[in-house]
Amino acid sequence: MSVAIALDGPAGAGKSSIAKRAAKALDYIYVDTGALYRTIGLAATRRGVAPVASPEVEALLRAITVDLTFNDQGEQVVLLDGEDVSGLIRTPEASMMASKISAIPAVRAYLLDLQRNMAKTHNVIMDGRDIGTVVLPDAQVKIFLTASPEARATRRFKELQEKGMDVRYEDILNDVITRDYNDTHRATAPLKPAEDSITVDTTALDFEQSVDKIISVIKENL
Ligand code: DC
Repeated sequence: MSVAIALDGPAGAGKSSIAKRAAKALDYIYVDTGALYRTIGLAATRRGVAPVASPEVEALLRAITVDLTFNDQGEQVVLLDGEDVSGLIRTPEASMMASKISAIPAVRAYLLDLQRNMAKTHNVIMDGRDIGTVVLPDAQVKIFLTASPEARATRRFKELQEKGMDVRYEDILNDVITRDYNDTHRATAPLKPAEDSITVDTTALDFEQSVDKIISVIKENL
């Protein structure tokens, strides 16, 4: 039987970079489920479909294909109708679109099997918002990774600046707060810790300390 580690938490808690490193150390596959919502958001933007529950969104889901694969370095590649969109989905606009589109039940239902199939066929660390609560309720270890909104906004700000993007800290902090609100208040699969999850707060931890903490929590609880 394969091993599944569910890693949930708010935007910018460092889930993806921490989970990538932990997955490498444990020889698991890292699955970033946010990329799937971002990809559907991109498809909606391209076709001019508004991110609200509607027959148009359902038609969009019937018309597209979303696939997850891995490149030679073991990094996740997300394909929209066969096109690698992994880079295109990493903008602040794509983040906000993903937050809105992920509140639509039909979108969540559409992505469920894809996520579960990944966990059936591989040992995974799966990162998202509802992995421990909805997608993989039987995951062997469930971690809720969090940090203060300010710490998360500072990290994201630096990350985008390093990529050469012209961004303002206040805008990033507002985005973090808005996305937290959207993610925790939606009716379907809202962001919340699973009852049997372990909370790890990285506000006062640097990256290496966070990775060490996650690896030790996984090892202690497997
Ligand atoms: O993790 P991320 O920032 O790439 O996620 C983008 C958006 O997708 C985020 O606002 C919440 C949503 N999301 C979700 O609802 N469920 C998941 N399992 C992963 C992401």
